[in-house]
Amino acid sequence: MADRILNVGIVGIGRIGGNHAAEIASFPNKFKLVACADNDPDRLVKELPKQLEPTTKYGSLEAMLEHPGLDMVTIGVRHPDHVPMAIKIMEAGKIAVVEKPIATSVAEYEHLLAVAKEHPGKLFLRHNRRFEAAFVKVKQLADSGLIGDIQYIKLYRSVGYCRRNDWMTMSEYYGGLLTNWGPHLIDQALQLLGGKVVDLWADVRRVISIGDGDDLFKIILKADNGRLADIEVSGCNAMPGREMEIIGSRGTIVHADGKLTARYLDPTLKLRDDLKPHPEQPRKAYGNFDETLNFFQSDIQIPALSQSVLWEHLYNDVVNGIPTPIRLEEGLETVRVTEMAFQKSGFEAIRNYHSKA
Ligand SMILES: NC(=O)c1ccc[n+]([C@@H]2O[C@H](COP(=O)([O-])OP(=O)(O)OC[C@H]3O[C@@H](n4cnc5c(N)ncnc54)[C@H](O)[C@@H]3O)[C@@H](O)[C@H]2O)c1
Repeated sequence: MADRILNVGIVGIGRIGGNHAAEIASFPNKFKLVACADNDPDRLVKELPKQLEPTTKYGSLEAMLEHPGLDMVTIGVRHPDHVPMAIKIMEAGKIAVVEKPIATSVAEYEHLLAVAKEHPGKLFLRHNRRFEAAFVKVKQLADSGLIGDIQYIKLYRSVGYCRRNDWMTMSEYYGGLLTNWGPHLIDQALQLLGGKVVDLWADVRRVISIGDGDDLFKIILKADNGRLADIEVSGCNAMPGREMEIIGSRGTIVHADGKLTARYLDPTLKLRDDLKPHPEQPRKAYGNFDETLNFFQSDIQIPALSQSVLWEHLYNDVVNGIPTPIRLEEGLETVRVTEMAFQKSGFEAIRNYHSKA
């Protein structure tokens, strides 16, 4: 029997809508793009992604939801419209795929979850960077025990030194880097932490952005298992460096300049537990002269993985009953951490967004 094919529509044919189209079209045995919608008529004509040319065009989500045989809608519109649209899609009996930031607050996410409970199996989150090749490999190495017990996780990202000036920099649209890149790295950090976040420190600031949203932030998360994640995203770092650094009790993994490297103690080496510190006058050198540690260092191949695998997971969930790894409660935790970071930092523009909402 031929596999079931899900008929897909995309709402919001902007920058990311084009990516949705290309990624979904790369699975012709699983999905068929049948419709697209945008409230800017130009977007449905000019620079329309080629995969959407044969589809039916609509001027609104509501009109597209009437498309015969439509199974699923992916949402590529501005942040504050994600939840209201996802709810409309589910209430129309279709599957909703929501972009990050999934919601603008915990309260809004909980409302989304309540609606999703009435429409089981109809809500999916596009936390695509969970499937970034380097991240997947780093998580695999960290989980393997190669560098011992994980202590500090550093996830840094720079989007270049850029005085960005589109809607995504405006608090009016819940814009800024914490709502843009934050969900990606918070989601990755939560995966590596592997425990519940019990403490958080945050600094969120606007440095050079034209909009009033943040363009530099640092969040430090502490999990109940003692692991700590340090997340930094910058829109004003003229000399960015490492993107990932995982410090364990037996070594370190670093991802920088597209290269993944691990330096770790010989896995066969058992650290001596009979050593004692010396209170007497030390010799004129630093270190430990009672033992020698052997390290291995290797450049690690980053597998050729595509973030598009997210759509395969989604398909397998809907059609074959194999749950997608991106769980709805994980999405809630990402939104909770984002909200706590804004609150702890006292970043005013987003406080104003919420007081107007
Ligand atoms: N997961 C990722 O890696 C990733 C990457 C980029 C963007 N995004 C997310 O995708 C969303 C869109 O970002 P973008 O850069 O594509 O924005 P964009 O401005 O380029 O595109 C948004 C599109 O939505 C349309 N639109 C807006 N309101 C609409 C409405 N009510 N009905 C129909 N169409 C409407 C606009 O006309 C525009 O074409 C954002 O929330 C962003 O966070 C995610």
